[in-house]
Amino acid sequence: MSIPGRPAPDAPPATGTPAGPRAHLLTNGTAEQYRRVLAEGIDRVSARIARTDRPFTGVTPAALAPTVAAVDLDRPLADPAAALDELEDVYLRDAVYFHHPRYLAHLNCPVVIPALLGEAVLTALNSSLDTWDQSAGGTLIERRLIDWTAQRIGLGPAADGVFTSGGTQSNLQALLLAREEACARATTPRRDLLPRLRVVASGAGHFSVQKAATLLGLDADAVIALPTDANRRMCPDALRAELARCHADGLTVMAVVATAGTTDFGSIDPLDAIADRCAAAGVRLHVDAAYGCGLLVSPTRRHLLAGIERADSVTVDYHKSFFQPVSSSALLVRDGEALRHATYHADYLNPAPRATGEQLPNQVDKSLQTTRRFDALKLWLTLRMMGPDAVGSLFDEVIDRADGAWRLLAGDPRFEVVTRSALSTVVFRYLPTGPAEALADDANRYARRALAASGAAVVAGTKVDGRQYLKFTLLNPETTLDDVAHVVDLIAGHAGQYVHERATAVTPCPVG
Ligand SMILES: Cc1ncc(COP(=O)(O)O)c(C=O)c1O
Repeated sequence: MSIPGRPAPDAPPATGTPAGPRAHLLTNGTAEQYRRVLAEGIDRVSARIARTDRPFTGVTPAALAPTVAAVDLDRPLADPAAALDELEDVYLRDAVYFHHPRYLAHLNCPVVIPALLGEAVLTALNSSLDTWDQSAGGTLIERRLIDWTAQRIGLGPAADGVFTSGGTQSNLQALLLAREEACARATTPRRDLLPRLRVVASGAGHFSVQKAATLLGLDADAVIALPTDANRRMCPDALRAELARCHADGLTVMAVVATAGTTDFGSIDPLDAIADRCAAAGVRLHVDAAYGCGLLVSPTRRHLLAGIERADSVTVDYHKSFFQPVSSSALLVRDGEALRHATYHADYLNPAPRATGEQLPNQVDKSLQTTRRFDALKLWLTLRMMGPDAVGSLFDEVIDRADGAWRLLAGDPRFEVVTRSALSTVVFRYLPTGPAEALADDANRYARRALAASGAAVVAGTKVDGRQYLKFTLLNPETTLDDVAHVVDLIAGHAGQYVHERATAVTPCPVG
């Protein structure tokens, strides 16, 4: 049956390209236009990536802001080529390029091409993963990948999970579930329990744990940060003592958060020993493996995650160590039932099964988000085109390279290195000798800025015990030890110049 004024469902696609605003809508009449515009964009980006000879131009916000401000958003350009020309000026020329071998700063990975294919497909179809009736097969693909990840972790037959926007959201949801489980188990009223809930993490854990505690309405001092050992790992004995202290003080520890890959040090908390302490105290264990999750597919280092299978929940960021484009993350839980704490029903969207008699796989029932990207498709195509071992071997390579970088710096008298990472970070600082040692903090800050301003390399900075350090985060297998050695020399050059000029009372530039 056809509706009057509409083509019959099996009518051939409309011919002729729509004009006016409709020419920009992706419909069956504009499929060729879509192909052409995207191909033009991909040509530009691939040419730009091929000729990028440094990770950054060193542009400052003050220098770039007028170019962006000058764009008249109410006057569109004539064609895609003009828009792409303009994009060169406002973005592409000065962007920070993570694929460049001398980008060594944060947890940003170069991305694998199969995932980019997934990105192109998922944005064109624009599936939304909240309900089956907006995604169909997308829902099943996401569920397969959740099952696959849970199996890699070893969470057992009742495991479940959901893709999220990132580690911050995964940690938030993990702690939401922990709070609700604690409230469900308690005999005291919720309002009396909430101020007494505590989360125990290590001092090297991620700040998203604190943020989550605030969002969840917990006390300002709800997150207890345990001191770490010399390798920046949580001490199981300190944990046992803290759990006992909380118990004695009438506090309820709703979760211990262990980290499998701390952001600065790449350290992995002793998961088995921590799981023992949690089991003995009857406390929920969340493992933040946002960074270390790549070990799940490592052909040589999976054993470093031993004990993760005992967690109640796990955060994984495929957009860190699976070489996926942002966003791609998930929260996995041992007991899928726990996800009910995120379930709310709306008549228009996901009516309760008891109201409809129909059991549909609606992922919104498990998610903090409603409309949600089909990020899982990127990982799906990555696994189907590369396979897990290939992804893991890329991560193995950068871990090897970081170890080489650590050895290089540990043998260089100009520098001091902190702990040897289990993953791919190196925290170090230029250390002048004699009275100039007092200039170390400023010299390292200066070197980082001068390096970024030159565009030759990008490195991160961080504080260790209140002192200024520099950090490499290696996630690009194309980065060679020669690249690292070159950047180390550049840093020594900038820092040494700073120290020299300060000693002769000529400050090269202010350090804020
Ligand atoms: C250990 C750890 N957890 C959580 C996060 C937060 O992840 P996202 O930036 O994806 O929200 C990070 C980010 O660096 C991290 O290193």
